[in-house]
Amino acid sequence: MALWGGRFSSATRDEVALYSESISFDKRLYRHDIEGSKAHVKMLAAQGIIPEATCEAIRAELDNIRRRIEAGDFAYDISMEDIHMHIESALIDVLGSEGARVHSARSRNDQVALDIRLYLRDEIDFLIGELRHFQRALVAQADANPKAILPGFTHLQHAQVVLFAHHMLAYVEMLDRDAERLADCRRRVNVMPLGSGALAGTTLPINREMVCRELGFDRVTRNSMDAVADRDFAIELVNALAIFAMHTSRLSEDLILWCSQEFNFVELDDAFCTGSSLMPQKKNPDVCELTRGKTARVYGDLTALLTMCKGLPLTYNRDLQEDKVAIFDALDTVKMILKVYPPMIETMKIKAENMRAAASDPALMATDIAEKLVELKVPFRTAHHRVGSFVKYCKERGKRLDEVTLEEMRETIPEATAEFLTLFDPEQSVAKRDVTGATGFRQVEKQIGYWKKVLA
Ligand code: ARG
Repeated sequence: MALWGGRFSSATRDEVALYSESISFDKRLYRHDIEGSKAHVKMLAAQGIIPEATCEAIRAELDNIRRRIEAGDFAYDISMEDIHMHIESALIDVLGSEGARVHSARSRNDQVALDIRLYLRDEIDFLIGELRHFQRALVAQADANPKAILPGFTHLQHAQVVLFAHHMLAYVEMLDRDAERLADCRRRVNVMPLGSGALAGTTLPINREMVCRELGFDRVTRNSMDAVADRDFAIELVNALAIFAMHTSRLSEDLILWCSQEFNFVELDDAFCTGSSLMPQKKNPDVCELTRGKTARVYGDLTALLTMCKGLPLTYNRDLQEDKVAIFDALDTVKMILKVYPPMIETMKIKAENMRAAASDPALMATDIAEKLVELKVPFRTAHHRVGSFVKYCKERGKRLDEVTLEEMRETIPEATAEFLTLFDPEQSVAKRDVTGATGFRQVEKQIGYWKKVLA
């Protein structure tokens, strides 16, 4: 009979047990469930709600159950629904009526809210550490290739020359905000819901602050109905994961382009690529493609959570059991990304000569000419128009921008001097971008130094 079977006269149908179980996916909460129960009984004893000896017996047996679970010596049975029931019933099996005191002043509704919060807190701390590794790998590539110049794109069209290091550091910034989002979300995760009971609190004289301290939470929840009903903290976390996945997906798209024969800017290590069953020459950037695919999956998890919660009347509804499917899937997916990317980035080979060859397209320096005119006090819009006409002039004659004489240039840019013909040098173009945040050598070197210090 189920632990709640007192008012029932027939057992749950097998299909219903299968339909309603969550042990198949919530068993991973076992450690946090046990940690929560240990703190709970310690408080119950301190408040005189259960005897001290019972508390000690329960705590020892909870440790024992944890060891059994970790040793694979613990039987799961869907008739006991979830991890909370499994552990309580294992306690009762060994301790009898003493074990039956563990659930005093507690509901699975506040218990599961507690377990998820404890679990997510650990996951967030782990994820932030992994994000730092990822950032370090990107910074190491920037640091190892401080002079590599490549075309920067907008609309996937040649725009202006940039440093490869600058491109890597753009992703370092994105990952930094991802880490910030996680840290910020942690503040709302780290609030202690136990003591909210099923929804209305309890008549028993519990001490929630004690449990809060015991489990390292910042504070206790202020409203028992809110505490058992909402999962916004988990939605926030999955949102942060979705944004992180999106960033990684964009990096992947850059790498896919860069690996193509047309770009040929980088080569990923063989260990991160796969071949074709048919075409013998193929080496495909499947990991990057899978990341685009897996990102869609994390978005799906976020959408599932938002949708799951939007129509629920207060307070707890069983729909919420499904939250863990989405939360765990998003976490597992992102943790895999975080395992694969740092070594893939570290071992990536940069083909600086190919990047430099692409960056020698003089059209990439057209803006530099317009800005030179602004230095000579030509209004920018006029300068833009002149250089545009110059581009057209060259195009009509089938010439590159650097294949014209000064006289020819003067036909569209009357202010041009000999100096203008020197502006097509990519190194110079980069070097001159020296405002904070720009791609200039000096600025990027400063940024690399900053990140090396921050990530040390
Ligand atoms: N397995 C449930 C969940 O994950 C635990 C809470 C069940 N509470 C209830 N009243 N049925 O949400």
